[in-house]
Amino acid sequence: MIKKNKTALITGPTSGIGLELAYLFARDNINLVLASRNKKLLLEIKKDISKKFNVIVNIFPVDLSQKGSSRKIYNYCNRKKIKIEYLVNNAGFGKYGLFSESSLKLDQEMINLNITSLTELTKLFVIKMRKRGFGKILNIASTASFQPGPYMSVYSATKSYVASFSEAIAEELKNSGVSVTTLCPGPTISGFQKRAGFKDDARMYGSFTIVDSKQVAKFGYNKMMNNNRLVIYGLINKMSVFFVKFLPSNFKTYLVKKVYNYYH
Ligand SMILES: NC(=O)c1ccc[n+]([C@@H]2O[C@H](COP(=O)([O-])OP(=O)(O)OC[C@H]3O[C@@H](n4cnc5c(N)ncnc54)[C@H](OP(=O)(O)O)[C@@H]3O)[C@@H](O)[C@H]2O)c1
Repeated sequence: MIKKNKTALITGPTSGIGLELAYLFARDNINLVLASRNKKLLLEIKKDISKKFNVIVNIFPVDLSQKGSSRKIYNYCNRKKIKIEYLVNNAGFGKYGLFSESSLKLDQEMINLNITSLTELTKLFVIKMRKRGFGKILNIASTASFQPGPYMSVYSATKSYVASFSEAIAEELKNSGVSVTTLCPGPTISGFQKRAGFKDDARMYGSFTIVDSKQVAKFGYNKMMNNNRLVIYGLINKMSVFFVKFLPSNFKTYLVKKVYNYYH
């Protein structure tokens, strides 16, 4: 009997961590459903992966900050009879700036993408995963999940939500065959910095704490396959998440403000 490939749905696979994850799944003969806004890039990635690996690549161009977009992906998978065994909620963005001066529309889009679409996709797909007794969910949070982030206030708060929500449902799903892994990267080279409005210069890219997307993706992928729960990439990031717990809240928040300011 021919063994049927499993399928992974990845949001935000056109750049950075999501792009690297797409190649990791394909390398392991896992079919793909790739969902993000840029259709041209999705087509190019589909072409390249299909050429290199023996997997089926489906693309679904969609803006996940728009209402109803998660349902559209879910309906597409149902229509094509695609079972999703792996769900990667990776698409996300942040924006540097004072909350009192930022665009409300942009803040809403960030919340819709980083929180709402992640929650909806998890809800829609986890039901069948649980019934089948198999599924792996990888939600991308951040080291920003663990403290308030002045100048990145909405972004940091969305990532706190991702970590809290994901850990909670991981516990609910214990022994169900469905695992939920929360990946917390620190600064990672990707399209993130440009969209967030950080300087694209040596200060950012010369920093010893910044790593490339490939390393982070590989780490997260292996941890998800291993059913780990909350995982932080890199020793320095792990240590900083550990030590900030012991700092007084005001001081911790002040320090984060200084760090974001430095990179802007
Ligand atoms: N890079 C870092 O320093 C860092 C640190 C911690 C956590 N993270 C998190 O890691 C995740 C991946 O980010 P990255 O660093 O790889 O950034 P990236 O290179 O900017 O990739 C973001 C991906 O999300 C997609 N996306 C953005 N807006 C979207 C929307 N409205 N609808 C659908 N897709 C959308 C983009 O594709 P399209 O443009 O095609 O839509 C792209 O594929 C994010 O959740 C981010 O918050 C990043």
